[in-house]
Amino acid sequence: MTEVTPLPRHVAIIMDGNGRWAKKNKIKIALGHRTGVEALRAIIRESSDIGIEALSLYAFSTENWKRDPSEVEALMGLLLEFFTSEIDELDEKNVCIRILGDKDGMPQKQRLALINAEERTKNNTGLKLNIAINYGGRAELVRAARSLAAKAAAGKIKPEDITEKTLSDELYTRGLPDVDLLIRTSGEMRLSNFLLYQCAYAEFLFPTVLWPDFSLEDYHQALEAFAHRDRRYGGRNS
Ligand code: IPE
Ligand code: IPE
Ligand code: MG
Repeated sequence: MTEVTPLPRHVAIIMDGNGRWAKKNKIKIALGHRTGVEALRAIIRESSDIGIEALSLYAFSTENWKRDPSEVEALMGLLLEFFTSEIDELDEKNVCIRILGDKDGMPQKQRLALINAEERTKNNTGLKLNIAINYGGRAELVRAARSLAAKAAAGKIKPEDITEKTLSDELYTRGLPDVDLLIRTSGEMRLSNFLLYQCAYAEFLFPTVLWPDFSLEDYHQALEAFAHRDRRYGGRNS
């Protein structure tokens, strides 16, 4: 495939549409999610191969616990399976995994698998792969506010020491560039509580394809579209 420039440094994806894909294909929802994992594996590999710096994937939101227990269970099973079966290859590919979200609120087995994936790949210098699990953008901001308030109450910082930098250092995405490109599949045009702070100047794309059908070609089309966006950040590009 032809090379697209400029490439976004940080791509975020809301992988949506597994349920509708299952319905359309008259199969169980769990199989829709399983097929979604296949799409995700391909996108991770491709991102690593083409040199994307950071990729953030929305896998499970703090609101997704509201779903039917059998669906939540299927998703938890797939998560565990993913981290067990993929970790060797990802580590070999020099991918550095970071979990965005509250690991402590996860079932024990999954929690340990997430901690292990982070620990094992923490010194890797390739693709920064962020997987948002039990993640909510508002919860992330509340957590950051609490941490800064605790530091202020302990006399470690003064209110005026709180800046965009010190605030973003309290987020799960600490040290990563802001999101450049946000892709949400399935045609829904909303953020659903994903990376609220980090998407301040992101470019948005809402392809109608359902996530399990999202192909490398769709990904390249998105990167191509991004390359043609005129990013102004409030200024003028003459
Ligand atoms: C996204 O697919 C995957 C998760 C939320 C885990 P959905 O399951 O939300 O798919 P739709 O929106 O019902 O089609
Ligand atoms: C967002 O999708 C969460 C993930 C893709 C993991 P949802 O399907 O949960 O979002 P809503 O409910 O349509 O806003
Ligand atoms: Mg959905």
